[in-house]
Formats: sequence, C-alpha cells, structure tokens
Amino acid sequence: MKVIIVLALLAYSVESRKVIEKCDGVIDVNNAEEEVLKNNIGSPYQLAIDRDKDTLFFSYTREEKGESIFELAFINLTNSEFKTVNGIVGGFANAVDEKSHTVYLGGENGIYTFDYKSNFANHVDGTNHRVWQMFFKKYLYYTTYPEEELYVLKNGQTQRVSQLNNTRAMLVAVDNFGNIFFSNSSGLYIYEEQKEKPNSITHMGDYIINSFTSDVQGNLYFSTPNSIYTIGSNKSVKQLIVLDDVYGFAIEQNGSLIYSTEDSIIRLKLNTKQC
Ligand SMILES: *[C@@H]1O[C@H](CO)[C@@H](O)[C@H](O)[C@H]1NC(C)=O
Ligand SMILES: *[C@@H]1O[C@H](CO)[C@@H](O)[C@H](O)[C@H]1NC(C)=O
Ligand SMILES: *[C@@H]1O[C@H](CO)[C@@H](O)[C@H](O)[C@H]1NC(C)=O
Ligand SMILES: *[C@@H]1O[C@H](CO)[C@@H](O)[C@H](O)[C@H]1NC(C)=O
Ligand SMILES: *[C@@H]1O[C@H](CO)[C@@H](O)[C@H](O)[C@H]1NC(C)=O
Repeated sequence: MKVIIVLALLAYSVESRKVIEKCDGVIDVNNAEEEVLKNNIGSPYQLAIDRDKDTLFFSYTREEKGESIFELAFINLTNSEFKTVNGIVGGFANAVDEKSHTVYLGGENGIYTFDYKSNFANHVDGTNHRVWQMFFKKYLYYTTYPEEELYVLKNGQTQRVSQLNNTRAMLVAVDNFGNIFFSNSSGLYIYEEQKEKPNSITHMGDYIINSFTSDVQGNLYFSTPNSIYTIGSNKSVKQLIVLDDVYGFAIEQNGSLIYSTEDSIIRLKLNTKQC
C-alpha cells in the first residue's frame, strides 16, 4: 500500500534536469557545486538532520524476494559514512528534537528513539500507530497511515490533535508561531489559532507536497517533485528553487541544501540563507 502511494507522490516529476533561480536573482543553482553523498539507493525519502551530531536520517526502499521493504538509514555528514538503523520494522519517518538532542523514528508499529552508541531504535511506549511522517516543534507531531490522522506526543502520551479532528493530514509542519501547516491530496493547508475565528483552516494552494522541513531558525520549507518553496513569516509561499526529481530535502546548519532523488542523496553547495 505504502509503496503505491509513495510512488504516486514521487514519480511525478521530469522536466529538464535543473534549474532556474527564483530567489530575487540571488541563488544561482546552476553554478552550485553538487556533491553526491549516496547513490544507488532506492527512493530515499523523509530527510531530517540531527545538527548536533551532523547526521542525516532518511528512509529508503529495498527489494527483497520481490517485496519492497522500508528501512531507515543515516549518513554521517562529516565523512559520508552510511549505516542502516536496527530495531525498527517498516521504518519510514524521522524528526529531531534539537533541544533534548533526541532523534525520533517512526515505523509500522509506533515511535522509536535512536541510540547512536548501539545503532538501535528503542520503542517509545504508548503508541503502535503506523507512522507516515513526523515533525518536531516543541512536541512530536506525527501522521498515520492509511488513516491520515494527526497526532502529537506530549509528556509521554499520544493524542489526536483535536483541532484537526475532522481532516486528513498526510504531512505536517509547525512554524515558530504555532501555526500548523499540513498537506493531503487536496493541497496545502494552514490551521491558525485565532480568537476571532476558532479552528480556522485555510487552503494555501494545490501543491503536490512530498516533504516539509525547517532550517536552523525554524523557518519552514516544502518540496514538490520539481520545486522547493519557503513559507514566509507572513504565511506567504514563495518558490525558491526549481530542481527536477526531488523526493525530499533538508537544510544544513550552514544553509547547504541536501536533497534526494529517485536513487541518490545530493548536497548542493549553495547558501539558502542568501534568500
Ligand atoms: C562522523 O564522522 C566523524 C569523522 O570521522 C567522527 O568524528 C564523528 O564522531 C562521526 N559522527 C557520528 C555521529 O558517529
Ligand atoms: C475531537 O474529538 C474528540 C474525541 O473524538 C472530542 O472529545 C473533541 O471535542 C473533538 N474536538 C474538536 C475540536 O472537535
Ligand atoms: C484535506 O484537508 C482539507 C482541509 O481540512 C479538507 O477540506 C479536504 O477535504 C482534505 N482532503 C481530503 C482528500 O481529505
Ligand atoms: C509576504 O512576504 C513576501 C516575501 O517575504 C512578500 O513578497 C509579500 O509582499 C509579503 N506579503 C504581505 C502581505 O506582507
Ligand atoms: C556546509 O558544510 C558542508 C559540510 O562541511 C560543506 O560541504 C558545504 O560546502 C558547506 N556549505 C556552505 C554553503 O558553506
């Protein structure tokens, strides 16, 4: 099931391989140096960086006896060493709490925390949800599959995000002001906590979103199969980069963009901070 959805979401792209600059003429991606961090890897998806450990987490697909198996892996961004995570079945989602330096992983039966020393994922009590995607902002937010429901893990307890009781949410991100952005097959939406208009959900566009991420300041970005966008503090969406065959991306401490394609993970040596 997951495979079909992922492929439907991802195998969308194809236009000319890179790149137009869209950042008020500032970022020239054509001249950005590319460094392949990993190649020959199946559908790397859901990238998240632990900036404390300079490590990139992501999921990928491996074929075994004619079946697609989801696994989580990580790359040491200092020396590009690649390893897979042990102890989790159907590993698919990642998120990092930068304050407590906790790496959360999500799989077929719940949430895990990652232990670098043992390279092992330890199950967090309280949920056996099939986790699709996760985002950390003060608390751990995650969506489930196939239900597309939004949950939050608070003080060791998972609960449905009650304000979004009535909607499907496949991917989620939270900004510095507590606004919840989510996407489903109908596009991008924002939920705002407003006194005048309680539980206000606004449609922000028909984007086919395959990932959300944030930079070190907590600014939000999202990708579609052929573009990367940023969401301004005034909640406006701005196209930043046109880049073919994007499966997911993350932003390093120094502003470098790391993105994945159908079979590779690539560092673009450009500085997104210029925008
Ligand atoms: C990544 O590699 C560097 C250089 O080899 C090493 O010092 C560092 O400990 C590694 N990071 C992790 C998280 O293992
Ligand atoms: C969400 O659902 C729960 C339980 O189904 C209910 O108690 C709560 O009032 C609902 N919240 C909203 C905002 O609809
Ligand atoms: C996506 O979310 C919006 C806002 O809650 C909702 O109106 C729409 O029906 C949802 N799309 C699907 C396919 O459920
Ligand atoms: C919101 O921010 C964008 C980019 O920073 C800017 O182009 C736009 O004019 C702003 N919109 C409003 C309503 O302030
Ligand atoms: C950011 O750091 C990485 C790893 O050290 C380096 O390869 C890359 O060139 C740097 N990017 C910028 C824009 O300085």
